[in-house]
Amino acid sequence: MEILRALTPADVPACVKLAADRDWPPEEAKWRFLLRVGSGFGVFVGDDLVATAIVTRFGDIHTAVSMVLVAHGHAGRGLGRRVVEHALAFADTPVASLCATSFGRPLYEKLGFRAVGRLAAHCGTLTAPPQGVSRPCGPADRARLVAEDAEVFGADRSAMWAALFDFAHEVRVADGGFVASWHNTDRLMVGPVVADSVATARALIADAAGAGPARVDVADPELAAWLSAHGMPARFEVDEMVRGEFTGRRDLLYAPVMQALG
Ligand SMILES: CC(C)(COP(=O)(O)OP(=O)(O)OC[C@H]1O[C@@H](n2cnc3c(N)ncnc32)[C@H](O)[C@@H]1OP(=O)(O)O)[C@@H](O)C(=O)NCCC(=O)NCCS
Repeated sequence: MEILRALTPADVPACVKLAADRDWPPEEAKWRFLLRVGSGFGVFVGDDLVATAIVTRFGDIHTAVSMVLVAHGHAGRGLGRRVVEHALAFADTPVASLCATSFGRPLYEKLGFRAVGRLAAHCGTLTAPPQGVSRPCGPADRARLVAEDAEVFGADRSAMWAALFDFAHEVRVADGGFVASWHNTDRLMVGPVVADSVATARALIADAAGAGPARVDVADPELAAWLSAHGMPARFEVDEMVRGEFTGRRDLLYAPVMQALG
């Protein structure tokens, strides 16, 4: 019999095993972080975890949906729809968003999501040197950064930021924006990037990307071209989808924290 229940940190090894079944990397730290800032649900058949979805609620307004997975052997039987519908009903916000693979898009369209853009994952070692436009975010910078993030994202993400300040490798602030980075498996993920122009976004990424393998997910064509020309070509793309209406100043959000959070 199938049982749907909330996921706990003790389920993370099973989540990583399910991800491997779909050729997703073993992102253990990311699963733990997402279960800390959001709520995960899983469908179990006996002891086996066969489907997952995580929802992260930003205030009463916005929910980010992520980590939607169904094991190969259980696909096409309605488990994806069941776990996502359950997670969305639990979150119960007027706006929900996600990044969809081509596998997920038909399901999300049936649930009322529409595609609003494409995000490309740029991976590699950045050849552009640091620009020195930013400095580490100190305790006195945090409140302003979180307020700016809420204005840009369109919802209060202070609870997520409280955890991200701890989880992040680094958070940096500049006159025209801010940037964070965090470790995922073998690379440094750069995001979010909030900037008042493409030039500022470029400079923030150059300050944050470090000298090793990195990844940043972007939609802006000028930024994408610059990354491709500096050692970080696009590796894959996803659809950005929303149910309800985005608010905020999203043209200033040049990269998400991660696809799972927007
Ligand atoms: C995407 C995924 C979660 C779907 O899970 P699933 O349990 O097989 O999906 P369901 O059986 O619940 O199907 C959901 C709906 O989408 C429809 N659907 C699925 N694939 C479709 C396709 N290629 N074209 C049209 N409709 C499709 C189904 O008919 C079903 O509709 P219904 O509920 O009205 O009958 C699963 O394929 C998966 O884990 N893929 C790999 C990981 C991935 O890409 N996850 C998505 C991340 S965004």
